[in-house]
Amino acid sequence: MTARQEDASSQEDSALLERVMQALDRKHDLSKKIAREPETTEIVTQFVGRLESAFGKLSAVRGKRILDIGCGTGGHALIWAKDGIDVAGLDMSPTMLKYANEKVSELELPISFIEGDVRSFNIGRKFDAVTAMFAVMSYQTQTEEILSALRSVRRHLEPGGLFLFDVWSGPGVISDPPTERVRSFMRDGIEILRTVRPVHDVSSHVVKVHYDILCIKDQKILKRVKEVHGMRYLFPQEVADFSSRTGFQIVVSEPFMKHGESLRIDDWNVMFVLMAV
Ligand SMILES: C[S@@+](CC[C@H](N)C(=O)[O-])C[C@H]1O[C@@H](n2cnc3c(N)ncnc32)[C@H](O)[C@@H]1O
Repeated sequence: MTARQEDASSQEDSALLERVMQALDRKHDLSKKIAREPETTEIVTQFVGRLESAFGKLSAVRGKRILDIGCGTGGHALIWAKDGIDVAGLDMSPTMLKYANEKVSELELPISFIEGDVRSFNIGRKFDAVTAMFAVMSYQTQTEEILSALRSVRRHLEPGGLFLFDVWSGPGVISDPPTERVRSFMRDGIEILRTVRPVHDVSSHVVKVHYDILCIKDQKILKRVKEVHGMRYLFPQEVADFSSRTGFQIVVSEPFMKHGESLRIDDWNVMFVLMAV
């Protein structure tokens, strides 16, 4: 191989890797990113359906202004904006917001993305609904952080406004604790080897999830990414207590993506709809 070919090849590797890393950045759970992209639209549709039915049945407020907290790269906000909903997104990660803004400018949609912390944000306007999708509230591991997040959300809702979020479900996690998983798959000619090692602290209701992601090409490690995410699981009675302390009441609790069903011990994700009182 000539020097130019080598350069080109390594540039190609870098470009490929850049795309892989963007995928990694966009979704911490890479397997979801790769294998479950179409599911995102389904989840958004179900969330909006849930929101509309909750507004229709339970609230005097109309759901036309939505704030998506922990919005990531803005996937859900984009789908809502295309449906004519007035959407804003908030996330603490500048990288996530950079990708979100790139998507918005490509599609020329009027969405504002704001850098902020769900535990303390104050953006000076009210919304009809706030959403926190894909376990954003589980990232708030301490009880005080969850209460602060709920208070921040409450400040941005009128009475009757709704807060929809899904979290890891206490009964599900306790009855079927997470175990180590290793997964390998190819992406743009690069093998991605992903190890997920959970460390469970039952007394604080937190699982520390250790991600170790290797990007390998021709038996060479191109990149290694290590991250630890603490994930809090919540029990329905805790959520009822936190809600009443922060100006909310629970109006819906059901297994995530199982609309209308009752929560069971083997459900790992639970969705709550809280109404501002
Ligand atoms: C699993 S991702 C979900 C992203 C998006 N909601 C989705 O459904 O694709 C969790 C997101 O929450 C954000 N996040 C976690 N804790 C946060 C906090 N305290 N304040 C703002 N954003 C937070 C992370 O930066 C990340 O973008």
